[in-house]
Amino acid sequence: MDSKSLEERCNQILRNMEASLTARDRVGIQDFVLLDAYTSENAFLDNLRKRFHENLIYTYIGTLLVSVNPYKELDIYSKKQMDTYMGVNFFELPPHIYALADNVFRTMQSEFNNHFILISGESGAGKTEASKKILQFYAVSCPSTKLLNNVRDRLLLSNPVLEAFGNAKTLKNDNSSRFGKYMDIQFDHQGGAVGGHILSYLLEKSRVVHQNHGERNFHIFYQLVEGGEEDLLRWLGLERNSQHYRYLVQGNCAKVSSINDKSDWKTVQKALSVIEFSESDIEHLFGIIASVLHLGNIKFETDVRGYASLSNNQEMHWVSKLLGIPAQVLQQGLTHRKIEAKTEEVFTPFSVDHAVYARDALAKAIYGRTFNWLVNKINESLANKDSSRKTVIGLLDIYGFEVFNVNSFEQFCINYCNEKLQQLFIQLTIKSEQEEYEMEGIEWESVPYFNNKIICDLVEEKHRGIISLLDEECLRPGEATDLTLLEKMEEKIGGHPHFVTHKLADQKTRKTLERGDFRLLHYAGEVTYCVVGFLDKNNDLLYRNGKEVMRQSKNAIIKHCFPSSEPDTKRRPETVVTQFKSSLVGLTEILMSKEPWYVRCIKPNEAKQPGRFDDVLVRHQVKYLGLMEHLRVRRAGFAYRRKYDIFLQRYKPLCPDTWPNWKGSAAEGVKRLIKHLGYRPDEYKMGKTKIFIRHPRTLFATEDAFQVCKHKLATRIQAKYKGYRVKGDFQKQKDAATKIENCWRGMMARKEREKRAWAVKVIKKFIKGFMTRNNPACIDNSEYLAYVRQNYLTRLKQSLPKTVLEKEAWPTPPPIMKEASQLLKKIYICHMVRKYVRGITPQRKSQLLLKVQTSSMFKGKKENYPFSVCRPFMDTRISPEDISIKVLQMIRHEHIKYSVPVVKYDRNGFRPRLRQLIFTQDAAYLVEEAKIKQRIDYSSLKGVSVSNLSDNFLILHVTYDDIKQKGDLVLQCDYLFEALTKLSVIANKQNYIKVVQGSVRFDIQPGREGFVDFKSGQESMVYRAKNGHLMVESTRTKSR
Ligand SMILES: Nc1ncnc2c1ncn2[C@@H]1O[C@H](COP(=O)(O)OP(=O)(O)O)[C@@H](O)[C@H]1O
Ligand SMILES: [Mg+2]
Repeated sequence: MDSKSLEERCNQILRNMEASLTARDRVGIQDFVLLDAYTSENAFLDNLRKRFHENLIYTYIGTLLVSVNPYKELDIYSKKQMDTYMGVNFFELPPHIYALADNVFRTMQSEFNNHFILISGESGAGKTEASKKILQFYAVSCPSTKLLNNVRDRLLLSNPVLEAFGNAKTLKNDNSSRFGKYMDIQFDHQGGAVGGHILSYLLEKSRVVHQNHGERNFHIFYQLVEGGEEDLLRWLGLERNSQHYRYLVQGNCAKVSSINDKSDWKTVQKALSVIEFSESDIEHLFGIIASVLHLGNIKFETDVRGYASLSNNQEMHWVSKLLGIPAQVLQQGLTHRKIEAKTEEVFTPFSVDHAVYARDALAKAIYGRTFNWLVNKINESLANKDSSRKTVIGLLDIYGFEVFNVNSFEQFCINYCNEKLQQLFIQLTIKSEQEEYEMEGIEWESVPYFNNKIICDLVEEKHRGIISLLDEECLRPGEATDLTLLEKMEEKIGGHPHFVTHKLADQKTRKTLERGDFRLLHYAGEVTYCVVGFLDKNNDLLYRNGKEVMRQSKNAIIKHCFPSSEPDTKRRPETVVTQFKSSLVGLTEILMSKEPWYVRCIKPNEAKQPGRFDDVLVRHQVKYLGLMEHLRVRRAGFAYRRKYDIFLQRYKPLCPDTWPNWKGSAAEGVKRLIKHLGYRPDEYKMGKTKIFIRHPRTLFATEDAFQVCKHKLATRIQAKYKGYRVKGDFQKQKDAATKIENCWRGMMARKEREKRAWAVKVIKKFIKGFMTRNNPACIDNSEYLAYVRQNYLTRLKQSLPKTVLEKEAWPTPPPIMKEASQLLKKIYICHMVRKYVRGITPQRKSQLLLKVQTSSMFKGKKENYPFSVCRPFMDTRISPEDISIKVLQMIRHEHIKYSVPVVKYDRNGFRPRLRQLIFTQDAAYLVEEAKIKQRIDYSSLKGVSVSNLSDNFLILHVTYDDIKQKGDLVLQCDYLFEALTKLSVIANKQNYIKVVQGSVRFDIQPGREGFVDFKSGQESMVYRAKNGHLMVESTRTKSR
């Protein structure tokens, strides 16, 4: 939790408080401490009533819980409710028994000490229900494991068993506890309920043989008769009819609508098996219960001598069978008493009255001892054998203050017990609180309260108290009767303000008292006791003979309950009331050593009706329970106090000055601490040894802060520890990593070394191979040569010529690859050629064929030939549109094959003229626009001359059949090679073309010759030389 959520939590508490204040008109206030008129009993009662009518049965006085019996089922005990109250601060939620239980549990957990919850109130006020609710809450809220669940189930189920045997319907309560019960629940340090222990107090045994009108015997009898299986009843010799049994019908109300004996029987059966009662235990147990019923039905008659004799043996035989006692022994035991006279034992017969008395005494003894056995057995089952330290929460649910029309010895004991508990309550709360303030020197206005010590003394004071007088009377030799007891009391304590008898009373009171009555003014009210039966019940005499008879029993439980080791001296055992008194002293000691918590139960009406709030009745209880005094003390006081050292010890982490250690005195430390926490002066007081904190919220805020801080500290410690652990782990991992690294490095180094050794070998071999590379293949160079081969081949692969033209770029082979290289080169060139050839188009092929022809004619002969190679040939150089139609018409029949523009040099004077030269299939034409200037039939073409230089001149030599014919043609053509190649192909006159050097002679006209001289010069020039020759100068081209 961080500080923000802490703040939220505080706000939440405040909001809740405010909410409860605003709801006050309707539901009253949930803590009487907040009551304005806290001294007014009326206001107190109003609040209680308001809440009761809203089904709000719980109200706090500080940490004390007041509970009003609703006499109806309320939907406030669900698992969900338990969850809501688990681990929540006491005052944050509406008051609930779960809140108290949770608070006790958590205080125990955090302070690791023992606690008890004192549940008090008169009979029927809801004590037993409250204790069950608390137990159920722990059963659900405590940590659970299989083992713990086992203990939990036993703790829970011990209740129905004990209630069956120890509870009965009374006028006050249909399920009235007729024994006192103190139960310790043991918790281990994790808060798991690991065991339990039950102490039982004074079972009202007289109920076994007698019930007042409107009351019943203990539940178990009716459960057995109503619910027992047929076989079982047959085996026990019982009839399914409670009316049949004398011990069950004296109250005349065997059937009660609020009690379902049949289903309760089932519950008890189940519970017994969970608490690990064996088959034979159960058999013996019910054998005893049945025996008691049979005993009750045994009748006596007066025989002729006036003594008692059995009127019918049948019931006696059942008892004999069930308890495993020989019939005769039993019979004698029921009708005779044993008297020890000096040396011999004499059996004297009973009168009928005596026999009935002895029978009832036996029944009570059997039942009473069996009940104790039962408690022990349950304790065995709840015992925790583990010796580790435990803390306990004790639950005290003891019979409440009881007032009947006729009150006897039992009521005297019960009310005395309540008197003692009230005294304890006073000591632990009001008195101790006041004394504490005084002792601590805290300013304090003391609250008057009624201290019931005076009544306790009246009952228990040595020699003078009622108990002493009673015992005295019981033990006194001579004729002591209940009436002599009364007289003695009148004599000894007659003047006591809380004691009245008929004789001692004033006129008015006397009317309310019988002669055999005495009245005690208890803290909780007046109770008139009828003295009849006091001595008997206190003596609880079981004739010795009875005990001896029981000792012979084969029934394991009876055997255990009547051990032969039991002192059999003539000395009387302690009286009942003395035993009870010492057990209460023991209880007080147990309780005083623990931290107390209180639940005060209030009975809203005597009719056991829901929704009825009897003001007078409740007011009376509020008064005698001392609730007003408690409230006044609470109001004046402080909610919380702790010894300085304990407070400091717990909260010192909250202040940097006190953490981790405070050097000075604890009080100084606390001062420093609360200053740091910002307590306001009105919120606390510093006593001599303790700090007193006025409001719970102050403490809660501190506690919450502590919880936050605790977690932080725990986290820090955890972090340190984790760090330490992780460091260790890290070191380990690091070592491991280093180891692995070392191994890895070693391995890598070895590998590297191997690799190097291998490399050295390879290099050596390589060098040797290199040195002997020119020797014939041998072991030394074979690998090297293979390498060389491979290397060359790879190199070759990467640098193969891309075209045939680059074939000279073939990589130079190493000597051993020379031959292979040549072969490869050849193959590769073939391959390239093939590829090339395959790749060329027919057009290109014919072009190339022409070029081949050109080559054969001019290659190496004419200087400018090389430049022509790259210039592709065209089909023609003059498109038909550019040839005059007239010409076309004239020569069309001959098919024009090629035409090219030329410059014609006049034969006389060598003037240049632009002409078209057209080759048809049959002849070459020189055309000037529309005129055919000259036709040269191929048959009359004698030859063609060109120079070896780089000019473009060609001279067509013609033969003459006719003198009028024109002479040879001197032409200059830019497409010389193309034109001549075409001509040679068209005219099929390849050999006619001559490459000449120097000059060419030509016929101007038949018989008249001319010359064209060729020479190389600085510039290309054509001119008529002085010698009358046409001089063609051409620049020298650099041969490629
Ligand atoms: N919290 C409760 N809710 C419902 N009914 C209750 C409650 N407390 C007591 N009762 C009723 O009152 C009866 C008497 O209560 P019980 O606890 O036996 O009284 P006590 O032990 O004080 O004599 C119960 O049997 C039950 O019917
Ligand atoms: Mg009870």
